Amino acid sequence: MPGGAVTLVGATRVDRVEAPVTIKAYFMCAFAAFGGIFFGYDSGYINGVMAMNYFIREFQGLPYPPAGATEDEKKYFVLPSWKKSLITSILSAGTFFGALIAGDLADFIGRRLTIIGGCGIFIVGVILQTASASLGLLVAGRLIAGFGVGFVSAIIILYMSEIAPKKVRGAIVSGYQFCITIGILLASCVDYGTQNRMDSGSYRIPIAIQMLWAIILAIGLFFLPDSPRYYVKRGKIDLAASVLARVRGQPVDSEFIQQELAEIVANHEYELQIIPQGSYFNSWKQCFTGGLSTPSSNLRRTILGASLQMMQQWTGINFIFYFGTTFFKDLGTISNPFLISLITTLVNVCSTPISFWAIERVGRRPLLIWGAVGMFVCEFIVAIIGVTDGGNKEAIKAMISFICIYIFFFATTWGPGAWVVIGEIFPLPIRSRGVGIATASNWLWNCIIAVITPYMVGTDRGNLGARVFFIWGSLCVLCWIYAYLLIPETKGLTLEQVDRMMEETTPRTSAKWVPTTTFAQEMGLTDKGTLDPAIVEDVERKGSVGV
Ligand code: BGC
Repeated sequence: MPGGAVTLVGATRVDRVEAPVTIKAYFMCAFAAFGGIFFGYDSGYINGVMAMNYFIREFQGLPYPPAGATEDEKKYFVLPSWKKSLITSILSAGTFFGALIAGDLADFIGRRLTIIGGCGIFIVGVILQTASASLGLLVAGRLIAGFGVGFVSAIIILYMSEIAPKKVRGAIVSGYQFCITIGILLASCVDYGTQNRMDSGSYRIPIAIQMLWAIILAIGLFFLPDSPRYYVKRGKIDLAASVLARVRGQPVDSEFIQQELAEIVANHEYELQIIPQGSYFNSWKQCFTGGLSTPSSNLRRTILGASLQMMQQWTGINFIFYFGTTFFKDLGTISNPFLISLITTLVNVCSTPISFWAIERVGRRPLLIWGAVGMFVCEFIVAIIGVTDGGNKEAIKAMISFICIYIFFFATTWGPGAWVVIGEIFPLPIRSRGVGIATASNWLWNCIIAVITPYMVGTDRGNLGARVFFIWGSLCVLCWIYAYLLIPETKGLTLEQVDRMMEETTPRTSAKWVPTTTFAQEMGLTDKGTLDPAIVEDVERKGSVGV
């Protein structure tokens, strides 16, 4: 309500810029992590389904392989590569656009409603896929479901980063990564359970089950409040105060809540002064302004978010999760490649919780730097064993062990780290779009890698075999250099402090930075210690006209 400026006590001490949090409030913040299940399950289930005989029969219009068919005859029952590629990659196309559009919507209808809307779109897509018995409907369903996954995957990160308390923000967002890994695991278990069915339930069950994740997430979010930072952006300071009180579990008139809110408001006003907003197109343009040479410019932050997600895909992790089964099979000496895939998936799930602790204790920057080192060392070892002694059973066991150690490094560092950092580096005026662009980049590279990898390793194509790990290893060396040069340390800071830290330091000096002043102090406090009403009024006015 412009003109009715709320009075907010401004913090003058840097340790008073965030209210204390109750256990219930912690759980509220952690619930949204559940959205990771979508991401993991949806990208995971299709691999198993595409190998199911019934599915292939249905979608190729072929008779079922007769009982007693030889292995050679069964090979006939394989989907052609172009169909596999289309069915797999159409999801990423949907998620790519979904993430970009959701970044936009989240500023208009709110983070929470955008996620709930994403669940609705996803359910429509899943219904179409479940009903499908032809390629057209399946592809359309996956495109629409992908759209929904794009909404959810981008905005969950934004929502969680904005409501989580600073001390556990990294751990809570890592919870999202944990749910991704559980989603991948669940998908392979369900596929395993239905693969031998002789009816359409073989593929319809794994597809339809996904609706459950969407329903649980949407219902849960229905009861959760929106992000206070969203309300500040829309100029609704009263509402921001009441939702902040809910997510912190404090009374709305408590001084803690006022101080935290004053800080968010003052920071937003500060950003609005540097980044004047305008028309719709202008607000998109803002993501690309400020020049390349200024480390804290919007352009640099947008590039940082998008490239960090690109590098996460370059680590080669999805080579294991998308093509692991085929890779292990092609090595020739493994009797049960499915089991090995299950093991790699389990290593992923079991290692991720270590990041809850490490991301807050060790910090984002060291985790990404040392994680890349761990990964490239393992990848080079796998490649070297593969080219020198690849036919030997013992050597293959060693390769698998190093692949598991590699997954351990990914799951404890780059897996969660990339998501945590993109939620933290953008200032409020461009945050939702920045996170949307970064998430879209994850899906774009996810798709590119899914499309080109079969050509690199396919026995009828590049046939690189274990040598492909030289490529992933070299890309991880780039990840290491990238993290060293470009990733700032954001642990323990509020999002507003991160904003300031990025202005005042370089990535290499960022870990030593400590806040010395508050935004409320800097922007203006009255004699009574309250935030200058003119600031609150300005934020209310600008927010109400959508700038
Ligand atoms: C990545 C996914 C990957 C998953 C594996 C995520 O952080 O973005 O592409 O499949 O981790 O756990």
